[in-house]
Amino acid sequence: MGFLNGICLVKCLCSLLLTSLVFILRIHAAPENTYIVHMDKTLMPKVFSSHHSWYSSVVDSLKSTNIASSSHPPSSPSLVYFYDSGAHGFSALLSAEELETLKMSPGFLSAYPDRTVTVDTTHTPEFLSLNTYSGLWPVSNYGEDIIIGVIDTGVWPESESYKDDGMSPVPSRWKGKCQEGQEFNSSMCNSKLIGAKYFNKGVIAANPGITISMNSARDTIGHGTHTSSTAGGNYVDGVSYFGYAKGTAGGIAPRSKVAMYKVIWNEGRYASDVLAGMDEAIHDGVDVISISMGFDGLPLYEDPIAIASFAAMEKGVRVSSSAGNNGSHLGTLHNGIPWVMTVAAGTIDRSFPGIVSLGDGETITGWTLFPANAIVQDLALIYNKTLSSCNSSVLLSNAPGGIIICDNTGSLYTQISEIAVSRVPAAIFISDETEPSIIMSCPGVVISTEDAPALIKYVTSNKEAKASIKFQQTNLGTKPAPAVASYSSRGPSPSCPGVLKPDIMAPGSVVLAAYTPNNYSAVIGGYIFLSSNFALLSGTSMACPHASGVAALLKGAHPEWSAAAIRSAIVTTANPLDNTMKPIRDNGDTNLSLASPLAMGAGQIDPNQALDPGLIYDATPQDYVNLMCTMNFTQEQIMTITRSKSYNCSNPSSDLNYPSFIALYDPNVSKATIQIFRRTVTNVGEGSATYKVKIVQPDGSTIAISPETLVFSKTYEKQSFSVTINYGGNNKEKVSFGEIVWMEENGKHKVRSPVVVSPVISS
Ligand SMILES: *[C@@H]1O[C@H](CO)[C@@H](O)[C@H](O)[C@H]1NC(C)=O
Ligand SMILES: *[C@@H]1O[C@H](CO)[C@@H](O)[C@H](O)[C@H]1NC(C)=O
Ligand SMILES: *[C@@H]1O[C@H](CO)[C@@H](O)[C@H](O)[C@H]1NC(C)=O
Ligand SMILES: *[C@@H]1O[C@H](CO)[C@@H](O)[C@H](O)[C@H]1NC(C)=O
Ligand SMILES: *[C@@H]1O[C@H](CO)[C@@H](O)[C@H](O)[C@H]1NC(C)=O
Ligand SMILES: *[C@@H]1O[C@H](CO)[C@@H](O)[C@H](O)[C@H]1NC(C)=O
Ligand SMILES: *[C@@H]1O[C@H](CO)[C@@H](O)[C@H](O)[C@H]1NC(C)=O
Ligand SMILES: *[C@@H]1O[C@H](CO)[C@@H](O)[C@H](O)[C@H]1NC(C)=O
Ligand SMILES: *[C@@H]1O[C@H](CO)[C@@H](O)[C@H](O)[C@H]1NC(C)=O
Repeated sequence: MGFLNGICLVKCLCSLLLTSLVFILRIHAAPENTYIVHMDKTLMPKVFSSHHSWYSSVVDSLKSTNIASSSHPPSSPSLVYFYDSGAHGFSALLSAEELETLKMSPGFLSAYPDRTVTVDTTHTPEFLSLNTYSGLWPVSNYGEDIIIGVIDTGVWPESESYKDDGMSPVPSRWKGKCQEGQEFNSSMCNSKLIGAKYFNKGVIAANPGITISMNSARDTIGHGTHTSSTAGGNYVDGVSYFGYAKGTAGGIAPRSKVAMYKVIWNEGRYASDVLAGMDEAIHDGVDVISISMGFDGLPLYEDPIAIASFAAMEKGVRVSSSAGNNGSHLGTLHNGIPWVMTVAAGTIDRSFPGIVSLGDGETITGWTLFPANAIVQDLALIYNKTLSSCNSSVLLSNAPGGIIICDNTGSLYTQISEIAVSRVPAAIFISDETEPSIIMSCPGVVISTEDAPALIKYVTSNKEAKASIKFQQTNLGTKPAPAVASYSSRGPSPSCPGVLKPDIMAPGSVVLAAYTPNNYSAVIGGYIFLSSNFALLSGTSMACPHASGVAALLKGAHPEWSAAAIRSAIVTTANPLDNTMKPIRDNGDTNLSLASPLAMGAGQIDPNQALDPGLIYDATPQDYVNLMCTMNFTQEQIMTITRSKSYNCSNPSSDLNYPSFIALYDPNVSKATIQIFRRTVTNVGEGSATYKVKIVQPDGSTIAISPETLVFSKTYEKQSFSVTINYGGNNKEKVSFGEIVWMEENGKHKVRSPVVVSPVISS
């Protein structure tokens, strides 16, 4: 041991020295960037004992040819990461010239520059009908022993959501660990939080000399604590967000194990770190990967999430990812990867009413999350056009005391901030923001533009207009819910338009989950910052871990199902109706029209139904390769993803055996087109079964199925059918949609696939 330490000491001194040497050299050397490099491992020369030594040698040779004759070090300070499990290759700091030389090396497949990633409760399990008496919770034993790997901003290990009361021991197959670091030691993991690792070499390589403010898996941003506790948090009683959403918090899979891979830093968020985190999660043996972030506008072969999740899928690891928060235009989605589950965000049936009682006895209900029980009782209502743009705290402070009414002009965020730092005791904001989305730092209520005329009429026709406002209210059973959240990114997937994305919708708006108490989650006035162990956040980032939790429960209930089978079960049993039994609506549409599958996939995730789907659309790794073979990718690009020559392109097919359908048309050409799809379904019900098809036709197109009846004589038998979608040619930019439902004759199973006919979105 002492000997090893000695070696380490020498090495450390050495690298310190080298760092300064390299620094001096760099003043003259060409600028370097981090590149992620993919290699063909089968071409490793026999002289190397491991691919690590091979990769090091490749990088060393670049450096020595470049800075010839200088006393360049034999080791490679420019290597950032080795990748093994999620990709084959490494990342390294290279100049443009070195990159060109590297491309000539034997075994080189592809390289691309490092880039930044976009980061996208108490009540949601009940809203999803999870219960202790029947269905997925009892059957899966609440996800016991299933390991969810969360790729995110770290974790707050002291959070009560990670206490391990009632947890089974850490599974012996687990290869992960609790990595020590700043304010984080190995005893902070337990049998709930079974692993925590951190990856910031990419941040450091891109910003030489930077100080990492929290150099460990400890979360300082709150996002990772929130997402991981949503997926797998333990039960915590009596929680709330400053009096809102009071209740017991629990994850979707409350007995699962959680492992955190911190890849997002206050100092930066880099692809090389994301890839390293996923690589390690796959190596450690997680069952599910939950990743609430994505890369916009990248082809599959340069998207680290697509690359690492292919390896994950081969190993049966289910990857669930967020669609992004760039809604509500079409074609804005990320993570539209054929071998992952892509999750859209919906609203939930919980609201936070701010109740305004007018002097004449009328009430108007808006929303508020002001973090205290402010007393606003019989105060004068003030509607003055000089003030009602609410954009100057100076002007506002000179107004007579009372409740100021703010018009729907300018930014709501600015209005709230200006009121908060003024002397105004309370405010009513007229706004189109119908979902709580902004920190409410003043005693204010946001009311809709529809409710505004009644308020304005009262205040302008009464000299003594008065009102009272009630805070800290929570309502359950709000209708209609869910609706697609306006911010949720929409398909078609830019990176693979022929596969319908997103797959599914899950609760994403104003979700309560654990949070980091070292950062604020509410503000009062301009300068008082409040912390909380639980916070309400919105985004597809919050929806994704709900789906990850369901995938974990399904893995517990059906350990033998592939990642594709689990996704199929979730998609074909999703609920397209809201809690008024009407089709789910789209909050991103000004007319609140019906949500299309490009907004919500098959609909709201329905965990108990997914337990017993009847039929499954399965897919093998080769099926995904067959799809890539039709995408005009080079062999090197495909192998960047597959990492193996055991796949080939002898059967290219754009017709993946997917549980949903998208037919694309060119909006600039008014021409009828016919598209034919083939699908194979596997009977996972008990014994023999007969299914008959029911079709809901999309506007302006027709769907025909052949055969219309499928007969299975036993479990696991497969049957195939064809789907002909005949687009009429006159939709002109319009998205239309329908469905194909296989109904079991005895009424037991209903296997529903969404169908969308969509214009091609030009990028
Ligand atoms: C880890 O930190 C906790 C809390 O600070 C402390 O109680 C414990 O002794 C530490 N354990 C080790 C192994 O350092
Ligand atoms: C605190 O949270 C905000 C977002 O809520 C984030 O922008 C900021 O970086 C965090 N502060 C620290 C010190 O992590
Ligand atoms: C998504 O939004 C981010 C941040 O607003 C923006 O930088 C990015 O270009 C958008 N991506 C797409 C595909 O619209
Ligand atoms: C406030 O809003 C009014 C009306 O919209 C506008 O004329 C004025 O320039 C704005 N003032 C500031 C400081 O933005
Ligand atoms: C409106 O507010 C301005 C600025 O405070 C003030 O000068 C004016 O008298 C107010 N108008 C009325 C009708 O109260
Ligand atoms: C909303 O409905 C109105 C009236 O039917 C229509 O004119 C408008 O185009 C619709 N808007 C959208 C975005 O569909
Ligand atoms: C296919 O890829 C080649 C080389 O990358 C490119 O030149 C060509 O334009 C692509 N074709 C299509 C139809 O995208
Ligand atoms: C392609 O793969 C299939 C299935 O693994 C195999 O049967 C076939 O021989 C391969 N074809 C070529 C040309 O390698
Ligand atoms: C359709 O035509 C418009 C206008 O010429 C063009 O901007 C767009 O890219 C075209 N769309 C497609 C899918 O080719």
